[in-house]
Amino acid sequence: MLPTILAIESSCDDTSIAILKDDAILVNLVASQKIHEEYGGIVPEVASRQHLKNIIPTISHAIKESGIQLSDFQAIAVTKGPGLLGSLVVGVNVAKALALSLDVPLIEVNHMKAHVLAHFIDDPKPAFPFLCLTVSGGHTQIVMVRDFLDLEVIGQTRDDAAGEAYDKSGKLLGLPYPAGPLIDKYAAQGEVKYSFTEPKIDGLDFSFSGMKTAIRYFLRDSLKENQRFIEENMNDICASIQFSINSFLRNKLIKASEETGIKEIAIAGGVSANKGLRKMLTEEADKQNWNFYIPQFQYCTDNAAMIVKASVYYYEKGIFSDLKMKPSARMPIS
Ligand SMILES: Nc1ncnc2c1ncn2[C@@H]1O[C@H](COP(=O)(O)OP(=O)(O)OP(=O)(O)O)[C@@H](O)[C@H]1O
Ligand SMILES: [Mg+2]
Repeated sequence: MLPTILAIESSCDDTSIAILKDDAILVNLVASQKIHEEYGGIVPEVASRQHLKNIIPTISHAIKESGIQLSDFQAIAVTKGPGLLGSLVVGVNVAKALALSLDVPLIEVNHMKAHVLAHFIDDPKPAFPFLCLTVSGGHTQIVMVRDFLDLEVIGQTRDDAAGEAYDKSGKLLGLPYPAGPLIDKYAAQGEVKYSFTEPKIDGLDFSFSGMKTAIRYFLRDSLKENQRFIEENMNDICASIQFSINSFLRNKLIKASEETGIKEIAIAGGVSANKGLRKMLTEEADKQNWNFYIPQFQYCTDNAAMIVKASVYYYEKGIFSDLKMKPSARMPIS
């Protein structure tokens, strides 16, 4: 019988609750924390306190909206890591309390695995084995996915994540956090006029720190010549930054496909919401004969729907967690 599961995601700055019944996501609520905008980035202590404030009302709201009785849940799933420890602690402890009081199993889920498995929420679904470029606020990975629970990172960033490259570039432009969606918006109205050299890095790994420095020096020098350079050229600067980051991601993905011979290609994580990246890779998929999979926007950034979906594969195998389980800030995908 298909399980009815409630899932909690609290790894960063979004408190999200999802409920799954008969393999369908009944609700997927996300309480976002706008408060970090004023600090220009996430403040871990503040994020943890906001989760504490939001988590019970969000659970109540989700249960009410789903029409499911508490006694109907057959398991509670939760993000164990990776993420901010203070944020994870809130979700994990509430999940433990629910599992204990309802006398149902607790299922721990790896957040990065869940980003990839979000592809199994809706059709079309990738076939195994496939490659997933997971690009988010904290990670940039090329993942070889052999089965639901058999994932291996074959390339990753050695410094900043792609989402950080977007957010830090945005900060240099005076944009609020998170800048990724704003750069995407401005880029749509601009032209690629400036170029930032692609980092030279071996194999399937990434590095964004050099590109970030190139962007900083370019802006510094341009502002010396024209103090209004950024405001007068915001759209073109954003289009250029976006093109440089996305081209680098695309080129490594092509390399990964060539090296593995895999043409089932997916993208996941917050940056996979980027319209420029979606377009660039859709065009590349045509050229390369890839079957290309893009998640719905609501499943790109952090959400508990991907956690509840991933938890089903553990439930089916009877893989449950001890109530002594501790959250883990750093947690490998396999
Ligand atoms: N349209 C967009 N274009 C570019 N970047 C975007 C877009 N939408 C969101 N992002 C970026 O995605 C990131 C957030 O993604 P996500 O919520 O998956 O990351 P995270 O959960 O903080 O990190 P991780 O999943 O690695 O733990 C931010 O860096 C944000 O700027
Ligand atoms: Mg995430």
